[in-house]
Amino acid sequence: MKKVFVNGYGSIGSRITSFLKDDPEITVIGVGKYSPDEKVNVAISRGLNVYVPEKKLNDFSNYKITGSIESALDECDLVFDASPGGHGYKNKKSLYEPKNIPAIYQGGESTTGDESVSDLLFNSRANYDKAIGKRHVMQGSCNVTGMGKILQPLRDKFGDKLTRFDVTLIRRWADIEQTEKTLSDTIEMTESPHHGDDVKMYFGKDAPLYVRAIKVPTRQMHLHIIDIRFKDTSPKPSEIHEIFTNEFGVATLWTAKGTKDVRDYAQKMGFNFKDTNMIHIHANMTTSIGDTVQMMYSDDQTGIVIPENHMLMQAMLFEKSYVDAFTHTESIFHMNEKKQKLEEHFTKKY
Ligand SMILES: NC(=O)c1ccc[n+]([C@@H]2O[C@H](COP(=O)([O-])OP(=O)(O)OC[C@H]3O[C@@H](n4cnc5c(N)ncnc54)[C@H](OP(=O)(O)O)[C@@H]3O)[C@@H](O)[C@H]2O)c1
Repeated sequence: MKKVFVNGYGSIGSRITSFLKDDPEITVIGVGKYSPDEKVNVAISRGLNVYVPEKKLNDFSNYKITGSIESALDECDLVFDASPGGHGYKNKKSLYEPKNIPAIYQGGESTTGDESVSDLLFNSRANYDKAIGKRHVMQGSCNVTGMGKILQPLRDKFGDKLTRFDVTLIRRWADIEQTEKTLSDTIEMTESPHHGDDVKMYFGKDAPLYVRAIKVPTRQMHLHIIDIRFKDTSPKPSEIHEIFTNEFGVATLWTAKGTKDVRDYAQKMGFNFKDTNMIHIHANMTTSIGDTVQMMYSDDQTGIVIPENHMLMQAMLFEKSYVDAFTHTESIFHMNEKKQKLEEHFTKKY
């Protein structure tokens, strides 16, 4: 049994912890909290041990804290860093490297420049084997993970018949649980978004991928609008959809009017955290015009990276083959069952 610590208990840390508790191969030592707020008691009520930074122990005197993060790390085989973007690098330098602990970082970190946390940006569909036995790896962000799930199967199928990908990311403003964050009534433009360069970490720096991003006032997922250019006449929409029939973590939907329909259905079906843990091709929006296929898909911002983190952990901790890791992740996340339910509910109406 391997022991794991989750440093940070926000949108991502709370989800990772919840699924790890269902994994019989893992003991969760506990979670790291930094602010003395009601979420400490939420974590404790879920049966978790809460650890806080050594120097902040006094701030938590009104809570039943188990100990310091520093002491919890001494016990663990791997840490999931789920801190706000940029803090993962600081934690790597001040905690994980000095204590010689393998760590998984989240998509708010960087894999290039002075504050890079790793030279590997993980996407199970593109580079699972490269993570086997590695000690410091970054899981791609939700948008980067989503793009990989669409682009990699297209590249596998069409190879050099593809000439260019243009993607516009329409990003959600905040997560559902982040009630303290208000949605601003504006459409915000993102200068030099990192997402294209992040995808190129596993596609190669010369991949013909061009990404633009804007942020809109919603909590209900990201939507990606993508134009896929072919050397010659592009395939029909049905040929594109066919590729994703058996693709892990990609559902093909026909009748969702918007992203909230998908989230509402996830809630109705009792999916954990109202997450689908996948992306959803909005098949009614796919068109084929001349040399170009136009597609749209929505990306469950909080859920999509959680099974990916679970796959990554198995590569790093157990050095499992892709097939073994995939089978184990599926037994915990039930992605195929969720995909089937979503596809049945949003099926094509003739
Ligand atoms: N939210 C998403 O949809 C999403 C999707 C994919 C990837 N990500 C990435 O996942 C990471 C976490 O994002 P999030 O949305 O989960 O953030 P979040 O909800 O704001 O949670 C961050 C957590 O980190 C804790 N924290 C604060 N300082 C820390 C430190 N120095 N070290 C460790 N933990 C610290 C916070 O503790 P306190 O609350 O106690 O202060 C909080 O529990 C980011 O890199 C983000 O880019 C987020």
